[in-house]
Amino acid sequence: MSLARRAAGKRLPWIIKYRPRTVDEVVNQEEAKRILSAWFAAWARGKPPSKRAALLYGPPGVGKTSLVEAYANQHGFEVIELNASDYRSAQAIRRVVGTAAFKKPLFGKGVVILLDEIDGIAPREDAGGLQELIRIIPQTLNPIVMTANDPWKDQLRPLRDLCLLVPFKPLSKTHIMAVLERICERERLYCEKQALRLIAELSQGDLRAAINDLQAIAEGYGRVTYDLARAILRGREKRVDIWRTLNMIFYAKAAWMAKKAVTQSEEDYETLIAWLNDNVPRKYAEPSDLHRAFDALSRATVFLFRAKYRTHWSLLSYVFDLIGPGVAFARREGAILKSKYSYPDRIKMMASLREVRRIRDQIAEKLAPRLGVSKATFKAEILPILFIIFRNSPSPIMAARLSLGYGLTREEVKFLAGPRADEILKLAEKIRRARKVEPQEQAAGASAEKKEKRRRRSRKKAPGTTLDEFFG
Ligand SMILES: Nc1ncnc2c1ncn2[C@@H]1O[C@H](COP(=O)(O)OP(=O)(O)OP(=O)(O)O)[C@@H](O)[C@H]1O
Ligand SMILES: [Mg+2]
Repeated sequence: MSLARRAAGKRLPWIIKYRPRTVDEVVNQEEAKRILSAWFAAWARGKPPSKRAALLYGPPGVGKTSLVEAYANQHGFEVIELNASDYRSAQAIRRVVGTAAFKKPLFGKGVVILLDEIDGIAPREDAGGLQELIRIIPQTLNPIVMTANDPWKDQLRPLRDLCLLVPFKPLSKTHIMAVLERICERERLYCEKQALRLIAELSQGDLRAAINDLQAIAEGYGRVTYDLARAILRGREKRVDIWRTLNMIFYAKAAWMAKKAVTQSEEDYETLIAWLNDNVPRKYAEPSDLHRAFDALSRATVFLFRAKYRTHWSLLSYVFDLIGPGVAFARREGAILKSKYSYPDRIKMMASLREVRRIRDQIAEKLAPRLGVSKATFKAEILPILFIIFRNSPSPIMAARLSLGYGLTREEVKFLAGPRADEILKLAEKIRRARKVEPQEQAAGASAEKKEKRRRRSRKKAPGTTLDEFFG
């Protein structure tokens, strides 16, 4: 191989170099492969299926175009491909698709018409082209395959009804890692598994993005380590904050925008549902809009539960749809309200629970070693007694002495005593002052040596203080 060719080969994007050549090489899309193969098989038997067009849909970079090309490559089909810019006019469609659709296979070599990214079709400007397609599809003699990210766009409805729908899902992290690993082997590239895991994670199921990231790091640095991947891809982790996420959902103009808002949000799905639950009534006023929005959220919760606890991760796609477009397009009757978003009650409660746990752990940390018990025993057996002493005993004196003896902070006393905290703190302060005065008075007649001994004794004693001493 000449140097020039080798250099050119190096620069070849890996997404092209390693694109699947056979259906087997398309990974993690078993359902789509099954549906599409059966459909092509009907064509091959010379009996066009009832739906003569197929619509492959799903997020970017998951193998829609690749699967059609791999199938055609493996079965020796000729692919006649059109993309968004060709959809403009009825004429262009008639010229290319119309001709191909009625072309008789020559020497048994089939033809596949591929209309890539059909959701790029504009409802008004491309109306003529769309009409032409709708006319051609029921009569075509060759399979027509279309791809789209969002098949639910309004303008696609008439097309959708004529198509076999073939869903593609985001690829799993494991499958993405496996493909990346294979590329590393073929490129004889030093790769850390942890780096591949990070690339896969950040790609969010988009293998094209993952392969491009891998190539960018490899070509820049000659190896792919975790540290390099993290440094180079850091920007990717930047996610959308909750305020922007809410705006993107409530003011979404298209379903994909609302869905993107969900998948890009820095919040987890439970938190996002909590935010929407509390903010839907601030944005929607019409009861039927509210009903649809809450219905979407409640279904999202059910799917999320099943996705997580039965590990059916494919259900997550429904969760995104319900949280995003489900809420965004629930508003059909009323206008959107101007009110500001509010912090959800449930999140406030969870935050305060976290705070409660923090203080409780802090007290356990401080007291358990002094009482000679484990933190777990302290929390299970001693803390309830302290609560009774601090909250229910007839006099605050014991609680005040305990606070003083253990050096409890204001916050800790508040946690233990609740509404009685002020009373206990005041009394503790009084006792502290009285104690300060007392040793000074005694010390007036005592020697400095005696004072020092007493100080040491009391210091030594502190760590061994037991509850009994206070009770006694
Ligand atoms: N399931 C897959 N198996 C193997 N390779 C894949 C798969 N999905 C994507 N790739 C790799 O990513 C590249 C891009 O994939 P492809 O063009 O098929 O994505 P797409 O789903 O059509 O995306 P878009 O919606 O953006 O058109 C392919 O060339 C291939 O290298
Ligand atoms: Mg594509």
